[in-house]
Amino acid sequence: MKFRRAAALKGELAVPGDKSISHRAVMFGSLASGTTCIENFLKGADCLSTIDCFRRLGIHIEEKNNQIYIYGKGLHGLKEPEGILDAGNSGTTVRLISGILSGQSFETTLTGDASIQKRPMGRIIEPLSRMGASIESLPGNGCAPLRIQGRSLHGIHYTSPVASAQVKSAILLAGLYADAPTCVTEPALSRDHSERMLDYFGARIETMGTTASILPGSCLEGRKVTVPGDISSAAYFIAAACIVPGSRLLIRNVGINPTRAGILRVCEKMGADIEVFPCLEETGEPTADILVKSASLKGCTIEGDLIPALIDELPVLAVMACFAEGTTTIRDAAELKVKESNRIDVMTENLSAMGARVTATEDGMIIKGGFSLRGAVIDSHLDHRIAMSFAVAALQADGETEIRGAECVHISYPGFYEDLQRLQS
Ligand code: S3P
Repeated sequence: MKFRRAAALKGELAVPGDKSISHRAVMFGSLASGTTCIENFLKGADCLSTIDCFRRLGIHIEEKNNQIYIYGKGLHGLKEPEGILDAGNSGTTVRLISGILSGQSFETTLTGDASIQKRPMGRIIEPLSRMGASIESLPGNGCAPLRIQGRSLHGIHYTSPVASAQVKSAILLAGLYADAPTCVTEPALSRDHSERMLDYFGARIETMGTTASILPGSCLEGRKVTVPGDISSAAYFIAAACIVPGSRLLIRNVGINPTRAGILRVCEKMGADIEVFPCLEETGEPTADILVKSASLKGCTIEGDLIPALIDELPVLAVMACFAEGTTTIRDAAELKVKESNRIDVMTENLSAMGARVTATEDGMIIKGGFSLRGAVIDSHLDHRIAMSFAVAALQADGETEIRGAECVHISYPGFYEDLQRLQS
């Protein structure tokens, strides 16, 4: 796809439902007794992979009046699937389902696309094995395909080396099947959607600081879930409106859970013109309308405990940094290397192609802002967040930008290019 410099972005939009929350609503609804109705479910490829996996595990799921209905069968209602479960491009699907499958009385094989087969699964294999599950990486390299033989599980207290909501959630979900409390302590708090939604579904879950614990004997009950707009999708419009002069965008109904909304804190540090108007909290998740106007930005340092609260927004924050006066340093973000692509290398390679002054480091990037960007050929590496970040960069670059593999945005934001086009005045 080809992109050119944009006129100001103006108007209103509602971004699609949150990806993390949509996955969890399907999973917890499947394990609940009774019906779960999901409103504003994200129909991106990743969440559709989760629906497909739970259908194959025997759960009846249907769409009616633009809502998704999950007819849950309780904690012990899943059945052995025929053949291999396919999580597509979705790390959340593989890692969270592995926790659930660890507590079943059958064996499952789980895989995904070429990118998933390169992503580290040792981080869940290790704690789930400690709980008593038998999980084997079939290629023997710590990656999918995984063969999981469910067993009776023991409660553990796991101190995770990474702040990862996927690791934390996999362990907590296995904890639903354990004989004693299961606790996870993280080095910094990662997104807490699982804790909030498990509580909303009636599980016995407690949190204190960076430790979450699930108690045995939890039962889940079907609920109505209203999914807020995804702040990770809103991020591209926040960035675009910040950098394209004369822009004014109102983004409605965005989830602003503090464990996700780090981008708003960084925008404030960079001097962005953003107002946040809180809305009613639904399903235990705070939401807001966000008004963004263009502003001159300044560089800043993004590091430490803030990183998990904006990990998926770092590619687009790196784009914003190119348009900010001074230097932006991103550190403590080595996790970027094990996302859908190696986002440190891929951002550095593509931003450099556009003429940006960027240096890759072991755990982030250093970006010298204030130099104009020029159009280039960008390889998305089939990573949706890379494609969307460069569609934003192109709006403020000289000449034409061509994004290869641009269609991969269907993973998290199927109508992204249409929305971006519509808002250009
Ligand atoms: C997610 C957690 C994060 C995030 C991913 C979604 C989740 O991954 O990057 O896009 O839904 O739990 P990690 O757990 O690997 O940090």
